Amino acid sequence: MNIRRKIVCALDTADLDRAVQTVRRVAPHVGAFKIGHALTLPYGLGVIDRLREAGADRIFLDLKFHDIPNSVALGVREAARRGVWMLTLHLSGGPAMITAAVEEAHEHSDDVAPLLVGVSVLTSLDEATLHSHLGVERSLPEHMVGLSKMGCECGLDGVVCSVQEVANIRRAIGHGVIVTPGIRPSSSPKHDQKRTGDAHTALDSGADYLVIGRVLTDSPDPKHALAELGLLEEGVAS
Ligand code: C5P
Repeated sequence: MNIRRKIVCALDTADLDRAVQTVRRVAPHVGAFKIGHALTLPYGLGVIDRLREAGADRIFLDLKFHDIPNSVALGVREAARRGVWMLTLHLSGGPAMITAAVEEAHEHSDDVAPLLVGVSVLTSLDEATLHSHLGVERSLPEHMVGLSKMGCECGLDGVVCSVQEVANIRRAIGHGVIVTPGIRPSSSPKHDQKRTGDAHTALDSGADYLVIGRVLTDSPDPKHALAELGLLEEGVAS
C-alpha cells in the first residue's frame, strides 16, 4: 500500500463549508477522512454524502461507541448501512458489546463491512492519569495490550494506539489493523495530546494508518504539511 493510502485526515470542525473545503484541498494527498461528533451532531450521517461529493472516498466514522451491546449494535448498523470504511468503539465496553458490534457490521453492510477498530487508552491520556484518576492498576502498555488482544479475539479488525505503543501492540495482535493518531513533526506543538510521535516511527513500528488532524487541516498547504512529516514521496502524495 502506498503512503498516501495510509494517511487519514481528521476533520475536527463543526463547520461543514470548512470541512468540504478541506476535503477538496487535501483529498489528492490522503486515503481517507475521519469525522466525529463535531460534524455528525449538527448534520447527521447525511454529512457523509456531502463529503463524498467533495472527494472523500473513504470515511472513517470516529464516534468511539461505548454503551450497552444493544445500543452500540444499533449505532453500528446505521454506520454500516451508510458504507463507512472504518469506525471506532471503546474496548472498555467489553466482549459482549464488541461481539454485538462485529455481528451487526457484517449483517448490515451492503457490500464490504466497515473495519471496526477498538480504542483502549486515548492519546490525550498519560500513565499518571490512568493510575490516579481512572483506577487502572496495570501499566499503560499492559493495559493497552490486554484490551487490544481482547478486542481482536472478539472479532475486531484492529485497534487504535499512539506511536509509542505500536511495536508492542503489533507483537500482541499479529496482523490486525493498527491506526495511529497523535502524529506530529518534532517542531510542532502537542496541543491536547500527551502521547505523540513522528510518522515514520509509527510506520516503521507497524502502523497501517496514520490519523493526522491539525497539522494537516490548519496548514494552508497540505503538501508542505506532509513534507514536514516526511510523508511527501515523489509520485505518491504529491
Ligand atoms: O489534531 P490531531 O492530529 O491531534 O487529531 C487527532 C485525531 O485523532 C482527533 O480527531 C482525535 O479524535 C483522534 N484520536 C486520538 N486519539 C485516540 C483516538 C482518536 O487523538 N486514541
